[in-house]
This record gives sequence, structure tokens and C-alpha cells, in this order.
Amino acid sequence: MRVCRGSGRRRFQSCGFASRAADGCLLMPMALVLLAASMPGAGAAENWTAVPQLERLQRIDDWLSQTAGAPAHWRVRSKGDVAGNGKILVESHQKEVNLSWFHKDAKEDAKEAVIVKALHKGGHFDFGHRESDIAYFELLYLEFLRGEPGIPVLHGGWVTKSHVVWVTSHGGRSVGSGLGRTTDPVKMAKDYDRRARKHPIEVAKAWFRCFRSFGERGGFVLTDFKPEQFTLDPAGDIYLVDGPAPNSGPIAEFARRHYRSKDAVYADHIWVPGDKKLPRHDDLEPGRSWPCPTGQNTDCARRSYKQHHCADGHCESKETVGAPEIRACHDGTCDAFDWRVHVYDVAVRSWLLPRIIGLAKDRGAARRLEELSAAMRRHDPGDRPSFDDLLRKLDAW
Ligand SMILES: Nc1ncnc2c1ncn2[C@@H]1O[C@H](COP(=O)(O)OP(=O)(O)O)[C@@H](O)[C@H]1O
Ligand SMILES: [Mg+2]
Repeated sequence: MRVCRGSGRRRFQSCGFASRAADGCLLMPMALVLLAASMPGAGAAENWTAVPQLERLQRIDDWLSQTAGAPAHWRVRSKGDVAGNGKILVESHQKEVNLSWFHKDAKEDAKEAVIVKALHKGGHFDFGHRESDIAYFELLYLEFLRGEPGIPVLHGGWVTKSHVVWVTSHGGRSVGSGLGRTTDPVKMAKDYDRRARKHPIEVAKAWFRCFRSFGERGGFVLTDFKPEQFTLDPAGDIYLVDGPAPNSGPIAEFARRHYRSKDAVYADHIWVPGDKKLPRHDDLEPGRSWPCPTGQNTDCARRSYKQHHCADGHCESKETVGAPEIRACHDGTCDAFDWRVHVYDVAVRSWLLPRIIGLAKDRGAARRLEELSAAMRRHDPGDRPSFDDLLRKLDAW
């Protein structure tokens, strides 16, 4: 997307869901696309089930590179499809997250809440730029896993002169906060704990469904692993609301094309077979068998961030350390890992199964979960049950 840099307007709300700053150096095709996208009522959305998964991803690429308008199967294709006055929920380094609603004229009780996210990067979207990539991966995650349990619905989005904006369903409140270190302990939401106490098996199933969707089915690994990435909605479903890294499978392959084609600029962002050094960009396929840097085991774990493995020595307990394959370095090569690290995570992290087991009033249910947990903690990822297996076991009980 070629747009002038430098409007410097980073706050989403100050743009009113779209920058109004004059920008005289837009290329003509971009100007036409923007004009079309800003017209309200772009027509009914195409039925997404009729569009193959990878074609839906390609539509996102075409939209971001401004060779086409917003995908035709999106319900939201312009800022006019969403009410104008959003409320900022969270403003982070990378994104501004707003609460808003469909349709300006909806009555209060008929309003359907949506989440509107804007990428914090004034100027232009650019593959290989960290903030742009974060938005891109989240869009691929939402689009590829559309319709799966635990994945927010991507309603659509629009592009302004300086922001990429996307709109998803509202997944409820975060299940908790804190990083799970001694200096920043996890604090779970009261609603979440109440549900875990009363309905431990249902809560465990909601977690398994969510992890099955993004890990087992999507091939994603969540590197920024912490409670506030997950929400609990009033129906008891749990959602992963922050886009994870495409680690393996068709989405990772799809995403990598952008970095390969720009080898002069972005070659050091990805790992290419044969490379002796680690890539700068460990968000993309963190689980690949990269070379161990300087032979230190803990550096292997850095592929998956501190929150995931607690290698900085500030974990709540030794048990909260992530799966062994994340840290393993053999003969100069970090062990490869995949979504099965999350089977281990769910069993060991204090705020996941251990908390449900601890809170459950029904001690019989707690024992069932303990039984599953023992298998989930097996050293060899191949010996751990899949999330699909776990759900089948709970359904059969
Ligand atoms: N779909 C959603 N439903 C409900 N809350 C959400 C949703 N998306 C984001 N949030 C809230 O906004 C916070 C920040 O969003 P997130 O996408 O995680 O941004 P960041 O990448 O900056 O961490 C989340 O921790 C969550 O509390
Ligand atoms: Mg987040």
C-alpha cells in the first residue's frame, strides 16, 4: 500500500475510525479504492462458505495491497457499516481496541456490540514492518478459522490513509490479567472463577475447543501467552482475541511468500533453510528448528517469548514452565515444536486446568480433569492427547 507517511495521527479515535487528514500523494488506484470503500451500503455480503479458504486469504492480500476493495464476503467493508462513536477499551503499543456497534441507527437494545481494532502505524501498511505484520497475521488467523469455535468472527474492515482497521465480534471480558510471574501474578476475573467452580467440565471444554481451533486446526502457536488474550462470553465460550503466529501449515506458507519476495529488505526477518543465524522476526513460524544461538538452551525458548516458557526465572512455580521441546537445543539446532506445546500449557499453567481443578465444587469432575492433565504433561509431544481427543474423552464420560 503506497500512501504518504507522516500524518503522525496514531490515535484511532482521533481519526473517527478513519483518518480525515488530507493526503495529496495517494496513488490513483488507491484513491479509487478508498472512494469506493468509503461509500456506505456496499451491498449484502457474499456467502463466505462458498469461497475457498485460501481464496479468502488472497482477498485480504489484495485488499491490503490496494489492488482490490474489501473482500466481498465481509459484512463490514466501510467505516459507515459501524457506528461512529466507539469507546476505547485498550490502547497498546501496536493497536487501539474500541467497542462499537453495527449500524448507526440501531436502537439501544438492538445494538450488536463489535470490536474495532486499528493498527498503530501512521503512514502505510508494509509487509515486514512489525506492527503491519501483527495486523496481517491477525487477519489471516481470523479469516482462515472463520466459523470455528473460540475464534472471533471477522466482520470486515477498511483502510484509511494511515490505518488498517478491522472489526470482529465481541468475545466478552478477558478471563484474567497478569503475566503469571512472581512480579506480575495472574488475577482471574470473578465471572470466570464462578463458572469454573460451578461448571468445571464445561469450562475445560471451552478451553479445549478454543485451543483445538487455533492450534490443532489452524497451525498457530500463541507466543504472547497470557490470560488477557482470552475472553469468556456470557454463553460460556472462550475466545482467543489476539492473533497468534502462523507456525505451520498452509497459513504459514501463505504468509511467508511476502518475505521471500522481498529478500533484499526482509531476508533477515525469516529463516531460510541453511541459514546459520536466527531471523529477526520470530513471530513467523516460531517452532521451526532454527540454529541454537551461541549454544544456550534458554535462547531456544526465546522463540516463544518469556510469557510462554518463563525462562527468566520469574515464573510462579517451576511447573508453569512451558513444554520441554521449546527449550531443547541438540547439536546446534533448536528442537522444532508445534501446537502440541499448548496441550502441555493447558495442563500446567496455573490459570488453566490447575485452577479449574482447584476450584471445582464437583470433586469427581476435578478428578476427571486431573486424569487428562497427567497425559497432557507427557514429555514427548507425540504421546500427549490432541485437543480433539480430550474433547471426545470428556463427551464420552
Ligand atoms: N474480540 C474481542 N472481544 C472482547 N475483547 C477484546 C476483543 N479483542 C480485543 N479485546 C480486548 O482488548 C485487549 C487488547 O486486544 P489485543 O488484540 O490483545 O491487542 P494487543 O495486540 O495490543 O495485545 C484484549 O486483551 C481484550 O481485553
Ligand atoms: Mg493482546
